[in-house]
Amino acid sequence: MEVVIVPDAEAGGELIAEAMAALLRRKPGAVLGVATGSTPLPVYRALEAKVRAGEAGVTRVRIAQLDEYVGLPAEHPESYRSVLRREVLEPLGISADAFLGPDGTTTDVPAACAAYEAALTAAGGVDLQLLGIGTDGHIGFNEPCSSLASRTRIKTLTEQTRVDNARFFDDISQVPHHVITQGIGTILEARHLVLLATGEGKADAVAATVEGPVAAVCPASALQLHAHATVVVDEAAASKLKLAEYFRHTFAAKPSWQGI
Ligand code: PGA
Repeated sequence: MEVVIVPDAEAGGELIAEAMAALLRRKPGAVLGVATGSTPLPVYRALEAKVRAGEAGVTRVRIAQLDEYVGLPAEHPESYRSVLRREVLEPLGISADAFLGPDGTTTDVPAACAAYEAALTAAGGVDLQLLGIGTDGHIGFNEPCSSLASRTRIKTLTEQTRVDNARFFDDISQVPHHVITQGIGTILEARHLVLLATGEGKADAVAATVEGPVAAVCPASALQLHAHATVVVDEAAASKLKLAEYFRHTFAAKPSWQGI
């Protein structure tokens, strides 16, 4: 696992957007796994700037969703499909046909989960998966004690996650209890995992992810099992890392051609 400490969220966004742009130059038909929440937004804005500047093309890219609420109408502004349309597809000029995601409006959730797993496989798998992290250590919506081998399935949100996400809704009663999320086993099949965490509120979860044991109680710690996982953190999110100086030193000494 590589840990990169950046000065702020904008620098993290730039670093990750450059990795995405490099991937698209190398593999124009890449499958880009995207995340929702506040944290990834600087990545999308930096990628948009690169696409506008002609540094990366998105005519053949496919965009894959990580997770989705169950029961919100697809056109609800806070369904993750709507959020990704607004934050990623429209600004980057990517057609809705290039979007892969589970159907959170379905009445047959197991079938929708199986269909999404099949769609990811048919697309050739995810090349780069961007991840946020919950204050409870979740990735996607894999809450604590999710199986590290789990596949796409329904999950019940913890109250902590519902409280964290209530800011996007008029009040907490509107935050759904259920979600469909790629499983941890599904996420681990992406070729490159990039987790971005910013702000002091994520510092404990980041320390458990990077320096704690691999344990289902901190789902993000599963990144330690992946051959190419990059954790990008700002100073505040890095504030509880015992090895911060080591991470700074190794990244500063890294050959510039290598990227993340
Ligand atoms: P946030 O969400 O980026 O809005 O903090 C992260 C997550 O829950 O994965």
